[in-house]
Amino acid sequence: MILNASGCLDALEAPEVARSLDAFVTKTVTPLPREGNRPVRIAETEAGMLNSIGLENPGIEGLLRDKLPRLTELGVPLWVSVGGFAAADYAELCAALDGHEEVTTIELNLSCPNVEEAPESAAEIVAAARERTGKLLYAKLSPAAADLPDVARSVQAAGADGLSLVNTIHGLALDERTLAPRLGHELGGYSGAALKPIALAAVYQCYRATGLPIVGMGGIMTGRDALEFLAAGARAIALGTVLFADPHAPSRVRRELADELAAHGLASTEDAFGLAHRAGPVRVA
Ligand SMILES: Cc1cc2nc3c(=O)[nH]c(=O)nc-3n(C[C@H](O)[C@H](O)[C@H](O)COP(=O)(O)O)c2cc1C
Repeated sequence: MILNASGCLDALEAPEVARSLDAFVTKTVTPLPREGNRPVRIAETEAGMLNSIGLENPGIEGLLRDKLPRLTELGVPLWVSVGGFAAADYAELCAALDGHEEVTTIELNLSCPNVEEAPESAAEIVAAARERTGKLLYAKLSPAAADLPDVARSVQAAGADGLSLVNTIHGLALDERTLAPRLGHELGGYSGAALKPIALAAVYQCYRATGLPIVGMGGIMTGRDALEFLAAGARAIALGTVLFADPHAPSRVRRELADELAAHGLASTEDAFGLAHRAGPVRVA
């Protein structure tokens, strides 16, 4: 299953790309509209990208009124990513979405590096959200947590149905000449190919810790990358930064993944799932 990573695809601007996905994930929506952080909000680095968008979005009312009807017309299962500044925000957003049949899954963005965090723990937020919706709930976590498997276990106990791993991690880029921070917000979220080993470790560890379904993301550029996430324990993968360079990445990665499966003598993604846990480390003679 191939999804987009939240915030990395505008489905209404690129409907044909959205239709090539198995589900479309919205940019994170908050209770009230947000303008986001001041520019500059994107910076390329030697090996990856920094962004400090700061959850620019039309607010839940704007999403439900203006965007959801048009997104529904795409005919692709819809996931809505929600974010807030307190557990009550997440609970309110879940309640607002609960009656909308076209939304299959709610992704709780518990890990945006560009805005202030809620005072409650991830588990407390999941518990508050769980009380207000019967929809599938995925908890999106940061790889920067001190003990990520422990956080994963705690959100599972609080009622999460799955995990989205991983969000970006703090990074800083300095201007070549002035050495001042290049982003208006100074620090940004670091994404792209350099995140892959960190994300793979998160998927590997959290699969072991919980057995929950996982959407793996972080630096997936090719079908080979996708295969590795499946082997580490992801049930689905999401494409983020790659979409900015190659908007047609979903169909390309799907083709490449099919080739990779065949090259490894695997009949389906199901056969690749969790392989890294069964294979054990490679021993060099
Ligand atoms: C420009 C940009 C905007 C993003 N916006 C969001 C967002 O609104 N909500 C969210 O949960 N993650 C957001 N992310 C994080 C991605 O969904 C993803 O977790 C991260 O970029 C790692 O995947 P990648 O290396 O394939 O990009 C954003 C990432 C980028 C690059």
